[in-house]
Formats: sequence, C-alpha cells, structure tokens
Amino acid sequence: MIEHKKLKEFVENSARMCQPDRIHWCDGSQEEYQLMIRLMVHAGTAIWLNPLKRPNSIFVRSDPMDVARVEDRTFICSVRREDAGPNNNWADPAEMKATLSKFLSGSMKGRTMYVIPYSMGPTHSPIANIGIELTDSPYVVANMHIMTRVGSNVMDVLNTHGEFVRGIHSVGAPLIPTDPDSPWPCNAHHKYICHFPETREIWSYGSGYGGNALLGKKCHALRIASVQARDEMWLAEHMLILKLISPEGEVKFVAGAFPSACGKTNLAMMVPTLPGWEVQTVGDDIAWMKFGEDGRLRAINPEAGFFGVAPGTSLRSNRNALLACSKNAIFTNCALTPDSDVWWEGMTETDPEDLTDWLRRPWKPDCGRNAAHPNSRFTAPAVQCPVIAPEWDDPAGVPIDAILFGGRRAGVVPLVIEAFNWTHGTFLGATVSSETTAAASGKVGQLRRDPMAMLPFCGYNMADYFSHWLKIGQQVDPKKLPKIYYVNWFRQSAEGKFLWPGFGENCRVLKWIFGRITGRVEALETPIGNMPTPGSLDLTGLDITPESIETLLSVDVEGWLSELPNIQSYFEMFAERLPEALYQELSSLRERLNRVIR
Ligand code: GTP
Ligand code: SPV
Ligand code: MN
Repeated sequence: MIEHKKLKEFVENSARMCQPDRIHWCDGSQEEYQLMIRLMVHAGTAIWLNPLKRPNSIFVRSDPMDVARVEDRTFICSVRREDAGPNNNWADPAEMKATLSKFLSGSMKGRTMYVIPYSMGPTHSPIANIGIELTDSPYVVANMHIMTRVGSNVMDVLNTHGEFVRGIHSVGAPLIPTDPDSPWPCNAHHKYICHFPETREIWSYGSGYGGNALLGKKCHALRIASVQARDEMWLAEHMLILKLISPEGEVKFVAGAFPSACGKTNLAMMVPTLPGWEVQTVGDDIAWMKFGEDGRLRAINPEAGFFGVAPGTSLRSNRNALLACSKNAIFTNCALTPDSDVWWEGMTETDPEDLTDWLRRPWKPDCGRNAAHPNSRFTAPAVQCPVIAPEWDDPAGVPIDAILFGGRRAGVVPLVIEAFNWTHGTFLGATVSSETTAAASGKVGQLRRDPMAMLPFCGYNMADYFSHWLKIGQQVDPKKLPKIYYVNWFRQSAEGKFLWPGFGENCRVLKWIFGRITGRVEALETPIGNMPTPGSLDLTGLDITPESIETLLSVDVEGWLSELPNIQSYFEMFAERLPEALYQELSSLRERLNRVIR
C-alpha cells in the first residue's frame, strides 16, 4: 500500500498517459536485478558473458542510432527563456509537455512500467536527494540498481510526504502484440530529453542509452540539482572526488571537473607512480558539495556505481576500473571475444585475432574498423573498485581541499596552473575549453568552451551559474575554501603526440598540489596564475625530454593573448547577465600578458 499521496498520483497519472500493461514497483533486491537480466537475455537485448571470466555479467548491444547522449535533443524547459540561457536548448514548458504527452500517450503499451524509487547519495545524508524514475526499460532498471541506491530504504525516507524529483522515461516503442520486440527498443526518429527545473521534473523519450535514460545521473544529479544548488547555496558539479594520501599518511580530498571522456574515472582510480603515494576513489563523475558547520565544503558522490568509458581502459591505464568490472557488471557496445568475454580498443597490448564487433559483424585486427563503439561503457558497482575510499558513502561527505578544472587541449594550456584566489579560479573554470568526444553524438575533436565541464549539464543560464560560483566564494573565510587549479593532461607535440604521459603519472601534479595546500611548496607567479618553480614538480624516474617539460610548464604568451578575443565574445553571449567580476578577470589577464610582451 503506497501511503504517499503525491507519489501515488504521479504513478497513476503517468500510467494513464503511457498505458503500460503492468506496473512493477522496484524494491532494489538482488532477485529483482536478476529478473531484469533474465528479461533482457530472453528478449535478446543481452547475452550472458562467460561466467568463468566475468561472473554474473552481461553484454548488451544498443541500436546504432542510440549510442550516446543527444545534446541537440536535450532541453531545459524553464518558464522564462532567459533562465535557460544561451548554453541550453530552451522550450516552453507547457508547449513541450503538450508535444511530449502526444509521444508518451500509449508509449508503454505491451510493456511494463517500472517505478524506481532511488536516492542520489547515502539515503540518510543531509546532502542526498530522492527521485522516482518511471521507465519501460529493464536495461534502465538494472543500470539504476548499480548506479543509484534503489528500493525500500528510499520509500522509508520518502515516507508519506517526502519531496522527490519526478522522472518519466520511455524508449518510445510500444509493443504490438503480433510483432516481435526489437533487441534494443528505441525511437529512431524522435528523441527528447526534457527538464522542467521549476517543477523538478524530467521527461525523457526515445532513447535507452546512458545519460539519456538513467535519469538519476545527468538529468537529476546535474541539470535539476544544479538549479536546486543555486537556490540553496550549494554546488552540483560534473566532478570526480578522490582521496590523496601522502607517504606520511596525511590525507587531502580533491574534486575535479573534466568534460565527458576527458579522464575523470582514470584520475579518480589512478595508481600513483611515485612511491608511497596513494589515491582512493570517492566518486568518478558527479560531486554534490555543501558547506558543513565548520564552513568547509563537504562533498558526497551521489552515485553508487560507475558508468565508465570502456575504450582505453587496461590493466596499465586503469587497473582499478578493470577490476571493478570483473564481475556483476553490464557492458554496452563493446566487442565480443569467441569465448564470450568483452574486448575494446586499448584493453590489451595486442589485438585479438577474431572478434564480433559491437554491430555483430566479424572483426579482424586489419579490417580498419573499431571493434567497440568509442562510447562503449561498463556499468559496475562502486564497492567493487579495489581502491574505493572507506569514506565513499559517508553521509557527512568529505571535506574538499582542492578543485581541479581541466579539458582536452592540444595547445596553449600548460600542465598545471594554480588560481590566485576563488574569483580567479572561477574565471579559469568559466573559460575552460575542450575538444568534443564520443560521449555525445556529433563531431569529435571540435574545440568548444565547456565551463567547469558543465556545458551539457548546467540546468540554467550559465551566466547565473558563474554568479553562483562567485557567491559561493563569499560565504566563508577564504582560507576555508578549496584551492583551485587548471590542469591539462592532453598537451600535444607538433606531431600530434601527447607530451605528458598522464594516467598514474598525474600523481606528480597531485603531489605538487598537495604541497601547495599544505604550504610546503613554492610557486612562480605568472600572468596566467601560479605555476611550479623549476624543480618543484617531482619528475624523478620519469622518461620525458627537457623540451617537453619546457612546453608543459611555460606560459605561451602569444597563445594566451590569441585566446582573449574568443573568451571576450563567449562572455558577450550572456550580455548583461555575465558577472562583472569575470570581465575584470579578463582585463587583468590581458594587462598581465601585455606587461610580459613590453
Ligand atoms: P565520462 O564518463 O564521459 O564523464 O568520462 P571521464 O571524464 O570519466 O573519462 P575517462 O576517465 O573514462 O577517460 C576517457 C578517455 O581519456 C579514455 O580513453 C582514457 O584512456 C583517456 N585518458 C584518461 N586519462 C588520461 C590521461 O591522463 N592522459 C591521456 N592521454 N589520456 C587519458
Ligand atoms: C558523460 O557523458 O559525461 C557520462 C556518460 O558520464 S552519460 O551517463 O551517458 O552522460
Ligand atoms: Mn560524465
């Protein structure tokens, strides 16, 4: 018996619209998870992997038209267009609901509507938040089981009057009784990922993949939560959270915003190459941060699993991610080996002889195609990560000492810059640009501004988001705020080779940051920020040319000056809504750079 009147109404009204054959209230149990897997195997959506190699794991291939987030079909339907801002596709909420009601009406015919009560964050955390996702996809239910906390605990917290974010998701493929189901039902022609920030609602139609369909993740924990965070003076960010332990056992917590497929999962689980240093994982994609009573920002990972990029993940690059998905995992759009295991580009030193690619075609190393889709993913429970931090599910969160911003930049941006202060750090975050990746449909490798890695995920006007960041910096004594850094692991040589080895070697930058936080390491003041003095970045044992180091650690004055007009016109897009402090930062930067030239 459901005692929560508003929840009951939400489910009843949605069922009236979508007309499912059945309604299933999810309890989050193991039995329920196994039932979802069996349903997927029966429908041809999934196959079991070799239980001797990957116990209790499945392999799923999506429709080739449904392989990534669809940013051009993602809408913020705030009442006023200006509140969505130039960074979002906007639609009038009433009009969008009218359009979507037509698509959703009868969309679940022949299917089951699953009611998923989920918590983003440990159920009793003051930072956590509850959502209900209605979906007609067992794939979504199984993934939500891993990625969030699902079930009866959440219903207990909701009780009779608890607030929740309302999510409706349909793959948009009603079943006709006489027709067979498709292995990956979706709507090839119509996709809508819509957010109604004022009413805390998400309506998603036509896609079953990743962030389009697992509504707890980008839709709730970032687009809707960013609006809640603005209203309540906290932060909902596209950030990993890691615990850094020095050889002396001293602990610092670091959060880091990097755009999709730009290294969050890798950094969060890295195996440091410097002896004695240790990294443990708190989260790999999203951080919710609130001020604690001591005035420090405390972060929780609202998720409970990893939805990680498969290609490039190997024992050498990210051993801990590979071990995290060694069992009880879901693999989507990877390649299949003859003995029913998964493979992807970069997993092994040499490519296997024979595979079935993600499109079910035979594959050989010399065939000239990728075997796995570039946005193929694994879903794995956080607790299976060998270096998961004991604090990862602490309801109180962890105190953040440093925040990193980064992107994929072949030129100009050095390995690491330290912001002079919070406002300068906000400026650095606001001006991050990065090359697009396969995580979203569209062209790969296009340079675009992706402020704080939030371009696709900020649920409101980005200019207001910048103001919010600036305001956060005024809430407490500046000494209590995390220090801010801008890093770039992706600098390239003229020949297009990465200059920095990255991965486990990134601990050298973390060590420098650790030294800065603890006040034990010197920095050089440059026009773009504080940078490592010669010798202060530990490079012992690293095989790298002095020329590369020079490029990585120097200020490309001409390069920065040529960025300025672009930053200026980016800011102008927001007209008078852009906070004046950011224009001031821009002109101070221009002055400092010009002083070097003169
Ligand atoms: P999302 O899950 O989409 O948000 O991505 P993410 O930010 O977690 O990115 P992830 O860690 O999965 O890395 C994406 C790709 O970048 C993988 O192919 C990695 O191999 C590669 N990568 C990660 N870290 C580094 C690095 O330090 N240097 C280089 N060159 N590549 C890296
Ligand atoms: C991202 O694109 O940043 C992801 C994958 O983390 S998805 O869940 O599809 O958004
Ligand atoms: Mn992400």
